[in-house]
Amino acid sequence: MANQFDVIVIGGGPAGYVCAIRAAQLGMATAVVERDKLGGVCVNIGCIPTKALLHSAYVANLAAHGAKELGVELGGVKTDYGVAMRRSRKVSEQNSKGVEFLMKKHKVTVLKGTGVLGKDRTVRVGDEAHQARKALVIATGSRVKGIPQIGLEINKTTVISSDEALFLEQAPKTMAVVGAGAVGCEFADIFNAFGTKVTLIEALPRILPLEDPESSDALAKSFKKRGITLHAGAKITKGTAGRDKVTLELEAGGKKETVEAEKVLMAAGRAVNTESMGFEEAGVQLTERGFVKVDLATLQTTAAGVYCIGDVAGPPMLAHKGSREGIVVAERIAGHQPHAIKYDNVPSVTYCHPEVASIGLTEEVAKERKLEYQVGRFPFSANGRARTASETEGFVKIIRDKKYGEILGAHIVGSHASEMIHELTVARENEYTVEEVDLAIHAHPTLSEAIAEAALDSMGRVIHL
Ligand code: NAI
Repeated sequence: MANQFDVIVIGGGPAGYVCAIRAAQLGMATAVVERDKLGGVCVNIGCIPTKALLHSAYVANLAAHGAKELGVELGGVKTDYGVAMRRSRKVSEQNSKGVEFLMKKHKVTVLKGTGVLGKDRTVRVGDEAHQARKALVIATGSRVKGIPQIGLEINKTTVISSDEALFLEQAPKTMAVVGAGAVGCEFADIFNAFGTKVTLIEALPRILPLEDPESSDALAKSFKKRGITLHAGAKITKGTAGRDKVTLELEAGGKKETVEAEKVLMAAGRAVNTESMGFEEAGVQLTERGFVKVDLATLQTTAAGVYCIGDVAGPPMLAHKGSREGIVVAERIAGHQPHAIKYDNVPSVTYCHPEVASIGLTEEVAKERKLEYQVGRFPFSANGRARTASETEGFVKIIRDKKYGEILGAHIVGSHASEMIHELTVARENEYTVEEVDLAIHAHPTLSEAIAEAALDSMGRVIHL
C-alpha cells in the first residue's frame, strides 16, 4: 500500500519547494522528493553562491580601484578566491537549511531520494511507493551542459562548468568563458575581479544577446574597460584540452584567433532533468526541444493530475519564474482560480557589474512587431545619487507605446539595477502608463529618480538633461 499525500512535488528547488509550501498553506498533505540538498541549483550551485561571489568581486573592485577616490586608502589590496568561495558556500548552506526549516514549519514531508513516476499519480522513491490523491508536480529543474560541437568535453579540471567554478580554491591566471549569457557574464565579472585574465567568447553578435542592444553595448564597454577581452560573433572551430591548458581556435569578424587559457568555463546553456523518470509509464510527454509538454494556461502535462513547473517546463529558466509557477499550480490544485502568469512580465537580471535588468520588450522586438513607440533614456551620469557613489555607469531606458503610454519594455544598466527594475515590473504587471510612473513622487536623491526621468524623457519633457 502506497503512502498517501494530497500533493507530491518532485524536486526541492525554488519551483518545487515554493509549490509545496503554498500547497501546505492551503491545507493539503504535501511531500517533496529531493535527492540532493533542498533549495536545488539556485540555492546550492546557482543564484545564491554566485551572488555571494559577485559581492566579493564588487568589494575587490572597489578596494582596488574605487576606494581611494572616496577618501579611503586601503594599501596593497590582496584578493583570495578561496576565502570568497568558502563564504559563498556558507551562505548557500544557510539558505538550504532555511528551506529545511520552512519544510518543517509547514509540515511538508521531505522524501530523500530520486522520484520515479508510475501510473495514477504514483511515485517510487527507493523501495517505497507514494501516491498523490490530488496531484503530482514535476519540478526536477536543469543542469549544466557542454558544447559537444566544439570538441571539448567538460573534464572538471581544465574544462569546467559553473558547478566546478563555484568550488575552486584559487582563481586561475587565465580563463576563457564560452557563452556570454547570464552565467558567462557573471563569472567573467567574478574572475576578473580576482585577478584572472578573462576572455569572454560569444557566438551571437553581442554579449547578453537577449537583452536590449544598448544594454549589451554598455556592459561590453564596461567589461573592456576592466580588461576583459571580448570576442562576440565568434565561432569556435577547434578546442584542445591539454594537462594544464586549453587552446581554442576561433573565427570572429573574418579574423582567426587562438585563445589559450588555464581553464575554460563552459557557460552555454542548460539541459533539463527528464531522464529515467518513468514519464512513459505515467503518460508525460516531452516537447521537441526536450522540455516537459505543458499547457501554459494551466501548467498541466499530458498526464491527468500531473503538473510541471520551473526550468523543466520550459524557458525562461529563471528561479523566480519557477517559484511563481509553483504558487499558481498549488492554488489551482486546491480549486482556486489564480491569476494567469504573464510570461512577458518575468524580469530578467544579470548581476555582474554594472548590473543589467529588464522587463518586457527590447527595442529590436518592438521594431520587429511594428509597434509605434517612443524611447525615453536617462543616464546615471546625470543622476545625483549615482554621482555621490561614483557609480555613474549605465542608464534607464523605457520603451513607451505611443498611443496609450503603456510600458512596452524597460531596461536598466547600472548599480542596483536588479532592485530598481521592480518599480517597472509592478507598473507593467498592473498596466500603469508611463505617465502614471512619473506621477508617483520619487524621493530625492535616489537612483530611482532616473526611472522617473526616463519616463519623462519618453514624453519629451525630461528635467535634468
Ligand atoms: P544562456 O542560454 O542564457 O547563454 C548561453 C550563451 O552561450 C548564449 O548567449 C549563446 O549564444 C552562447 N553560446 C552557445 N553556444 C556557443 C558557442 N559554441 N560558442 C560561443 N557561445 C555560445 O545560458 P546560461 O548563461 O548558461 O544560463 C542558463 C540559464 O540559467 C538561462 O536560462 C539563464 O537565464 C539562467 N540563469 C540566470 C541567471 C540570472 O538570472 N542572473 C544567472 C545564471 C543563469
